[in-house]
Amino acid sequence: MPNDQENEMFAGRVGLVTGAGSGIGRAVAEALVENGMRVGCADIDAAAAAETARNLDGALAITMDVRDQGSCEAAVEATIAEFGRLDALVTAAGVQVREKMRADEFDRDEFARIVDVNLIGTYLSARAAARAMIAQGWSGRMVLIGSIGGQTTPMFGIAPYTASKGGVTMLGRSLAYDWAQHDIRVNVLAPGVVRTPMTAASFADPEKYRGLVDHIPMGRVAEVGEMAGVAVFLLSDAAGWPLFAPPLTPKRGPRHCFRPFQSA
Ligand SMILES: NC(=O)c1ccc[n+]([C@@H]2O[C@H](COP(=O)([O-])OP(=O)(O)OC[C@H]3O[C@@H](n4cnc5c(N)ncnc54)[C@H](O)[C@@H]3O)[C@@H](O)[C@H]2O)c1
Repeated sequence: MPNDQENEMFAGRVGLVTGAGSGIGRAVAEALVENGMRVGCADIDAAAAAETARNLDGALAITMDVRDQGSCEAAVEATIAEFGRLDALVTAAGVQVREKMRADEFDRDEFARIVDVNLIGTYLSARAAARAMIAQGWSGRMVLIGSIGGQTTPMFGIAPYTASKGGVTMLGRSLAYDWAQHDIRVNVLAPGVVRTPMTAASFADPEKYRGLVDHIPMGRVAEVGEMAGVAVFLLSDAAGWPLFAPPLTPKRGPRHCFRPFQSA
Protein backbone atom coordinates (compact mmCIF):
# COMPACT_ATOMS: atom_id res chain seq x y z
CA MET A 1 0.00 0.00 0.00
CA PRO A 2 1.39 3.46 -0.85
CA ASN A 3 2.55 5.45 2.14
CA ASP A 4 3.42 8.92 0.99
CA GLN A 5 0.06 10.54 0.47
CA GLU A 6 -0.44 13.83 2.26
CA ASN A 7 -3.80 12.86 3.75
CA GLU A 8 -2.58 9.70 5.46
CA MET A 9 -2.53 9.88 9.25
CA PHE A 10 1.20 9.30 9.61
CA ALA A 11 2.43 10.80 6.33
CA GLY A 12 6.07 11.81 6.70
CA ARG A 13 6.47 10.07 10.06
CA VAL A 14 8.84 7.28 10.92
CA GLY A 15 8.53 4.55 13.52
CA LEU A 16 10.38 1.60 14.96
CA VAL A 17 8.55 -1.53 16.12
CA THR A 18 10.35 -4.15 18.19
CA GLY A 19 9.08 -7.72 18.07
CA ALA A 20 7.78 -6.90 14.59
CA GLY A 21 8.42 -10.41 13.33
CA SER A 22 5.29 -11.91 14.86
CA GLY A 23 1.94 -11.44 16.51
CA ILE A 24 1.08 -8.02 17.89
CA GLY A 25 4.32 -6.37 16.70
CA ARG A 26 3.79 -7.50 13.12
CA ALA A 27 0.17 -6.33 13.12
CA VAL A 28 1.23 -2.95 14.54
CA ALA A 29 3.93 -2.54 11.87
CA GLU A 30 1.40 -3.35 9.15
CA ALA A 31 -1.17 -0.92 10.56
CA LEU A 32 1.37 1.90 10.84
CA VAL A 33 2.50 1.43 7.24
CA GLU A 34 -1.12 1.28 6.09
CA ASN A 35 -1.58 4.69 7.71
CA GLY A 36 1.41 6.21 5.98
CA MET A 37 4.25 5.70 8.45
CA ARG A 38 7.60 4.33 7.35
CA VAL A 39 8.64 1.67 9.80
CA GLY A 40 11.74 -0.16 10.99
CA CYS A 41 10.54 -3.71 11.66
CA ALA A 42 12.93 -5.10 14.27
CA ASP A 43 13.10 -8.58 15.72
CA ILE A 44 15.68 -10.99 17.11
CA ASP A 45 14.41 -13.40 14.45
CA ALA A 46 15.92 -11.91 11.28
CA ALA A 47 13.83 -14.04 8.91
CA ALA A 48 10.63 -13.09 10.68
CA ALA A 49 11.50 -9.38 10.55
CA ALA A 50 12.24 -9.74 6.82
CA GLU A 51 8.94 -11.53 6.28
CA THR A 52 7.05 -8.66 7.93
CA ALA A 53 8.86 -6.00 5.91
CA ARG A 54 8.67 -7.88 2.60
CA ASN A 55 5.07 -7.00 1.78
CA LEU A 56 5.10 -3.49 3.19
CA ASP A 57 5.94 -0.45 1.10
CA GLY A 58 8.00 1.73 3.43
CA ALA A 59 9.33 -0.87 5.83
CA LEU A 60 12.87 -1.87 6.72
CA ALA A 61 13.75 -5.22 8.28
CA ILE A 62 16.15 -4.93 11.22
CA THR A 63 17.71 -7.67 13.29
CA MET A 64 17.71 -6.53 16.89
CA ASP A 65 18.11 -8.04 20.34
CA VAL A 66 16.38 -5.78 22.85
CA ARG A 67 18.54 -7.17 25.67
CA ASP A 68 21.60 -5.55 24.13
CA GLN A 69 21.95 -1.78 24.35
CA GLY A 70 24.23 -1.59 21.31
CA SER A 71 21.66 -3.51 19.30
CA CYS A 72 18.90 -1.13 20.42
CA GLU A 73 20.99 1.87 19.43
CA ALA A 74 21.85 0.26 16.10
CA ALA A 75 18.15 -0.37 15.37
CA VAL A 76 17.36 3.28 15.98
CA GLU A 77 20.33 4.35 13.85
CA ALA A 78 19.33 1.99 11.01
CA THR A 79 15.79 3.39 11.01
CA ILE A 80 17.02 6.98 10.91
CA ALA A 81 19.65 6.16 8.27
CA GLU A 82 16.93 4.69 6.04
CA PHE A 83 14.07 7.10 6.66
CA GLY A 84 15.72 10.25 8.01
CA ARG A 85 14.02 10.68 11.41
CA LEU A 86 12.25 8.90 14.25
CA ASP A 87 8.80 9.85 15.52
CA ALA A 88 7.42 6.71 17.09
CA LEU A 89 8.41 3.56 18.95
CA VAL A 90 6.33 0.49 19.74
CA THR A 91 7.93 -2.13 21.97
CA ALA A 92 6.29 -5.47 21.25
CA ALA A 93 9.31 -7.76 21.75
CA GLY A 94 8.49 -10.10 24.59
CA VAL A 95 8.74 -13.62 25.91
CA GLN A 96 6.61 -15.81 28.11
CA VAL A 97 7.76 -18.46 30.61
CA ARG A 98 8.86 -21.73 29.01
CA GLU A 99 6.64 -23.69 31.37
CA LYS A 100 3.98 -22.57 33.81
CA MET A 101 4.81 -23.44 37.41
CA ARG A 102 4.10 -22.39 40.95
CA ALA A 103 5.99 -19.23 41.90
CA ASP A 104 8.39 -20.98 44.28
CA GLU A 105 9.56 -23.36 41.54
CA PHE A 106 11.16 -20.92 39.08
CA ASP A 107 14.93 -20.83 38.99
CA ARG A 108 16.88 -17.60 38.83
CA ASP A 109 17.88 -17.99 35.19
CA GLU A 110 14.32 -18.34 33.95
CA PHE A 111 13.17 -15.37 36.05
CA ALA A 112 16.06 -13.27 34.76
CA ARG A 113 15.45 -14.32 31.14
CA ILE A 114 11.92 -12.96 31.24
CA VAL A 115 12.84 -9.71 33.00
CA ASP A 116 15.78 -9.21 30.67
CA VAL A 117 13.64 -9.19 27.52
CA ASN A 118 10.33 -7.81 28.78
CA LEU A 119 11.48 -5.11 31.18
CA ILE A 120 15.14 -4.28 30.59
CA GLY A 121 14.70 -4.75 26.83
CA THR A 122 11.76 -2.37 26.85
CA TYR A 123 13.80 0.20 28.74
CA LEU A 124 16.83 -0.11 26.45
CA SER A 125 14.64 0.23 23.34
CA ALA A 126 12.82 3.25 24.77
CA ARG A 127 16.04 4.88 25.93
CA ALA A 128 17.70 4.51 22.52
CA ALA A 129 14.62 5.95 20.81
CA ALA A 130 14.26 8.80 23.30
CA ARG A 131 17.87 9.85 22.90
CA ALA A 132 17.34 10.13 19.15
CA MET A 133 14.03 11.97 19.60
CA ILE A 134 15.52 14.43 22.07
CA ALA A 135 18.46 15.05 19.73
CA GLN A 136 16.01 15.76 16.90
CA GLY A 137 14.31 18.34 19.06
CA TRP A 138 10.69 17.56 18.20
CA SER A 139 7.97 15.41 19.67
CA GLY A 140 7.89 11.63 19.81
CA ARG A 141 5.37 8.96 20.71
CA MET A 142 5.88 5.60 22.35
CA VAL A 143 3.61 2.67 23.04
CA LEU A 144 5.04 0.03 25.34
CA ILE A 145 3.21 -3.28 25.15
CA GLY A 146 2.61 -4.37 28.72
CA SER A 147 0.00 -6.89 29.78
CA ILE A 148 -3.14 -7.23 31.81
CA GLY A 149 -0.90 -9.48 33.94
CA GLY A 150 1.19 -6.46 34.83
CA GLN A 151 -1.73 -4.25 35.80
CA THR A 152 -4.52 -5.91 37.70
CA THR A 153 -4.64 -9.61 37.16
CA PRO A 154 -1.97 -12.05 38.34
CA MET A 155 -2.30 -15.35 36.50
CA PHE A 156 -1.30 -18.71 37.83
CA GLY A 157 2.10 -20.10 36.90
CA ILE A 158 3.72 -17.06 35.23
CA ALA A 159 5.09 -14.98 38.12
CA PRO A 160 8.25 -13.83 36.27
CA TYR A 161 6.11 -12.66 33.35
CA THR A 162 3.60 -10.73 35.45
CA ALA A 163 6.45 -9.23 37.50
CA SER A 164 8.18 -8.08 34.31
CA LYS A 165 4.97 -6.60 32.92
CA GLY A 166 4.21 -4.85 36.20
CA GLY A 167 7.62 -3.28 35.73
CA VAL A 168 6.66 -2.18 32.22
CA THR A 169 3.55 -0.48 33.63
CA MET A 170 5.55 1.69 36.01
CA LEU A 171 8.40 2.11 33.55
CA GLY A 172 5.95 3.61 31.07
CA ARG A 173 4.59 6.00 33.66
CA SER A 174 8.11 7.01 34.72
CA LEU A 175 9.20 7.60 31.14
CA ALA A 176 6.06 9.64 30.46
CA TYR A 177 6.92 11.91 33.37
CA ASP A 178 10.62 12.20 32.63
CA TRP A 179 10.26 12.81 28.92
CA ALA A 180 7.13 14.98 28.90
CA GLN A 181 9.37 18.05 28.91
CA HIS A 182 10.67 16.86 25.53
CA ASP A 183 7.12 16.26 24.25
CA ILE A 184 7.71 12.52 24.16
CA ARG A 185 4.42 10.84 25.05
CA VAL A 186 4.58 7.36 26.46
CA ASN A 187 1.64 5.02 26.93
CA VAL A 188 1.43 1.41 28.02
CA LEU A 189 -0.96 -0.77 26.08
CA ALA A 190 -1.85 -3.71 28.29
CA PRO A 191 -3.67 -6.43 26.35
CA GLY A 192 -5.68 -9.24 27.81
CA VAL A 193 -5.47 -12.50 25.89
CA VAL A 194 -4.65 -12.06 22.20
CA ARG A 195 -4.45 -14.77 19.57
CA THR A 196 -0.74 -14.88 18.61
CA PRO A 197 2.01 -17.50 18.36
CA MET A 198 2.78 -16.74 22.03
CA THR A 199 -0.66 -17.92 23.11
CA ALA A 200 -1.45 -20.43 20.35
CA ALA A 201 -0.55 -23.47 22.43
CA SER A 202 -3.05 -22.57 25.12
CA PHE A 203 -5.83 -22.41 22.51
CA ALA A 204 -5.07 -25.82 21.00
CA ASP A 205 -7.27 -27.73 23.44
CA PRO A 206 -10.89 -26.65 22.72
CA GLU A 207 -11.97 -27.43 26.27
CA LYS A 208 -9.23 -25.25 27.76
CA TYR A 209 -10.06 -22.50 25.29
CA ARG A 210 -13.73 -22.60 26.31
CA GLY A 211 -12.68 -22.46 29.97
CA LEU A 212 -10.59 -19.41 29.18
CA VAL A 213 -13.17 -17.45 27.22
CA ASP A 214 -15.86 -18.30 29.77
CA HIS A 215 -14.12 -15.72 31.97
CA ILE A 216 -13.97 -13.07 29.25
CA PRO A 217 -17.06 -10.86 29.09
CA MET A 218 -16.90 -10.69 25.28
CA GLY A 219 -16.68 -14.46 25.07
CA ARG A 220 -13.59 -14.49 22.90
CA VAL A 221 -9.93 -13.57 22.91
CA ALA A 222 -8.68 -10.50 21.05
CA GLU A 223 -7.19 -10.53 17.55
CA VAL A 224 -3.91 -8.76 16.77
CA GLY A 225 -5.62 -6.18 14.54
CA GLU A 226 -7.58 -4.98 17.54
CA MET A 227 -4.36 -4.26 19.42
CA ALA A 228 -2.83 -2.60 16.34
CA GLY A 229 -5.80 -0.24 16.09
CA VAL A 230 -5.24 0.92 19.64
CA ALA A 231 -1.54 1.45 19.00
CA VAL A 232 -2.39 3.54 15.92
CA PHE A 233 -4.68 5.69 18.05
CA LEU A 234 -2.09 6.13 20.80
CA LEU A 235 0.53 7.20 18.25
CA SER A 236 -1.83 9.54 16.44
CA ASP A 237 -2.48 13.23 16.97
CA ALA A 238 -5.85 12.26 18.47
CA ALA A 239 -4.01 11.02 21.56
CA GLY A 240 -2.41 14.29 22.50
CA TRP A 241 -1.95 13.60 26.19
CA PRO A 242 -0.32 10.74 28.08
CA LEU A 243 -3.18 8.45 29.03
CA PHE A 244 -1.68 5.73 31.17
CA ALA A 245 -4.16 3.36 29.65
CA PRO A 246 -5.26 0.41 31.73
CA PRO A 247 -6.00 -2.86 29.93
CA LEU A 248 -7.97 -2.43 26.76
CA THR A 249 -9.27 -5.93 26.27
CA PRO A 250 -11.76 -7.90 28.30
CA LYS A 251 -10.17 -9.42 31.31
CA ARG A 252 -10.49 -12.75 32.96
CA GLY A 253 -12.97 -12.97 35.76
CA PRO A 254 -16.10 -11.01 36.51
CA ARG A 255 -14.40 -8.69 38.95
CA HIS A 256 -12.09 -7.43 36.21
CA CYS A 257 -14.42 -5.29 34.16
CA PHE A 258 -13.35 -2.89 31.47
CA ARG A 259 -12.15 0.42 32.81
CA PRO A 260 -11.79 3.47 30.59
CA PHE A 261 -8.59 5.37 30.08
CA GLN A 262 -7.26 7.25 33.05
CA SER A 263 -5.80 10.61 32.28
CA ALA A 264 -2.42 11.51 33.68
N1 LIG B 1 -0.58 -12.60 23.08
C1 LIG B 1 -1.11 -12.18 24.22
O1 LIG B 1 -2.14 -12.68 24.70
C2 LIG B 1 -0.45 -11.06 24.96
C3 LIG B 1 -1.13 -10.53 26.06
C4 LIG B 1 -0.55 -9.48 26.77
C5 LIG B 1 0.67 -8.97 26.38
N2 LIG B 1 1.32 -9.52 25.31
C6 LIG B 1 2.63 -8.96 24.97
O2 LIG B 1 2.60 -8.50 23.64
C7 LIG B 1 3.94 -8.53 23.10
C8 LIG B 1 3.91 -9.29 21.78
O3 LIG B 1 3.51 -10.62 22.08
P1 LIG B 1 2.91 -11.62 20.99
O4 LIG B 1 1.78 -12.31 21.63
O5 LIG B 1 2.74 -10.92 19.71
O6 LIG B 1 4.11 -12.67 20.94
P2 LIG B 1 4.93 -13.29 19.74
O7 LIG B 1 5.71 -14.39 20.34
O8 LIG B 1 4.03 -13.58 18.59
O9 LIG B 1 5.90 -12.09 19.31
C9 LIG B 1 6.97 -11.68 20.12
C10 LIG B 1 8.12 -11.29 19.21
O10 LIG B 1 9.19 -10.80 20.04
C11 LIG B 1 10.41 -11.25 19.48
N3 LIG B 1 11.46 -11.26 20.48
C12 LIG B 1 11.61 -12.10 21.52
N4 LIG B 1 12.75 -11.82 22.19
C13 LIG B 1 13.33 -10.78 21.56
C14 LIG B 1 14.51 -10.03 21.76
N5 LIG B 1 15.37 -10.34 22.76
N6 LIG B 1 14.79 -9.00 20.95
C15 LIG B 1 13.95 -8.69 19.90
N7 LIG B 1 12.83 -9.39 19.64
C16 LIG B 1 12.51 -10.41 20.46
C17 LIG B 1 10.08 -12.66 18.99
O11 LIG B 1 11.04 -13.14 18.05
C18 LIG B 1 8.69 -12.46 18.41
O12 LIG B 1 8.76 -12.12 17.03
C19 LIG B 1 4.80 -9.22 24.17
O13 LIG B 1 5.44 -8.24 24.95
C20 LIG B 1 3.77 -9.94 25.02
O14 LIG B 1 4.23 -10.15 26.33
C21 LIG B 1 0.80 -10.54 24.60
